[in-house]
Amino acid sequence: MSVETSHRYQNIPEHLSSIQSPAADRAETTSNRKPIVPRVRSFSWSLDGRSIPLGFGCAHLGNTGRSDYSQKDELDLLMRSYESGMRYYDTSRTYHESEVVVGEFIRRIDRKTIFLATKSMYPFREQKGFSVFKDNFYRSFERLQTDHIDLFQIHDTDSFNICEAEVMPFLIEQRSRGLIDYIGIGTRSLNALELALLSGEIDSVLSYMNFSLLKRSAEPVIRLAHDIGASFVNASLLHFGAIKEPDPLTAAAGKQGYIRRTYIRAAAMRDLCREMGIDPVVASLQYGLFEPGVTMTLNGIRRQANLEATLAAMRQVIHPEQWARIYQLQNQDPCLRTQDDLL
Ligand SMILES: NC(=O)c1ccc[n+]([C@@H]2O[C@H](COP(=O)([O-])OP(=O)(O)OC[C@H]3O[C@@H](n4cnc5c(N)ncnc54)[C@H](OP(=O)(O)O)[C@@H]3O)[C@@H](O)[C@H]2O)c1
Repeated sequence: MSVETSHRYQNIPEHLSSIQSPAADRAETTSNRKPIVPRVRSFSWSLDGRSIPLGFGCAHLGNTGRSDYSQKDELDLLMRSYESGMRYYDTSRTYHESEVVVGEFIRRIDRKTIFLATKSMYPFREQKGFSVFKDNFYRSFERLQTDHIDLFQIHDTDSFNICEAEVMPFLIEQRSRGLIDYIGIGTRSLNALELALLSGEIDSVLSYMNFSLLKRSAEPVIRLAHDIGASFVNASLLHFGAIKEPDPLTAAAGKQGYIRRTYIRAAAMRDLCREMGIDPVVASLQYGLFEPGVTMTLNGIRRQANLEATLAAMRQVIHPEQWARIYQLQNQDPCLRTQDDLL
């Protein structure tokens, strides 16, 4: 069987056809799968009659150790997002009790009306790493109170190759059983995401802090995902708060490497945005929303004020000439298209 005919993506581009997919012999079990990109896009945020590919990142939910923690407030927040038209929800076994809160939310809505994405770490350095992964996988169904997960992602494993022996065959089997519809990987390393896409068995890659007001290092991965029909999910556009920092230059002092550079670039971007009368948070949340290769953008909503601010941000207009000035400033950064040092 040639790679071209055995590969599950029908439109694999010419320049990739010579790459032997390690999963080529499994293609027949996956040929009936619904293409992921239109499916994910159909769970865009329906707001004011517009369809906006923005979803709810649930990483900050379920932190029961917080002194002001209230599950009721978080359920209200999720319900409010749903009522506003949001339909894509991304969580993880690793995000405190986030899955449990999302599970309670799922009980209150019609499960089929949302796209549910979760993840598990693969602690491959531990002797029982694969057992931990499998246990997390099954427990996610219990915690989320569902018998079906749309997208199951390998979480923060900066090597894809390490997943090929056990984790991938296991997830492929679960996908063929129909427990999950799609397999994804969400990690910082763009190299791992690229290798995952080239395997031909990954439906979705999630990248964070790599495509934003301050970075465009994910461009090649976005193009590759687009070319092979995989979903590209873009996260952490606020750079873990650096974009909101009231005084980025002071924050940069004493920091080193890419963190220092991030604050310095954030200061320059904030100055430009202010000069144009734009809030850098608004520009961040809108960044890449309408790039054809970015299937879904995630916003980490922690509180009602975030949701209100995001609703308002989607209603603001940034004109093409203002975007042009933003791109111009971005292009002055020699590190714009380079992956940050991950250590
Ligand atoms: N490895 C992975 O798979 C991975 C990695 C990263 C992210 N993700 C996913 O992507 C999601 C988004 O990433 P993130 O949580 O880092 O997100 P983010 O959207 O960059 O938000 C981070 C923080 O910014 C603040 N914020 C959010 N919306 C705001 C708004 N409209 N205006 C002002 N402040 C706002 C919130 O904190 P304050 O209100 O306290 O300032 C929030 O906790 C995550 O929740 C997770 O689902 C996955």
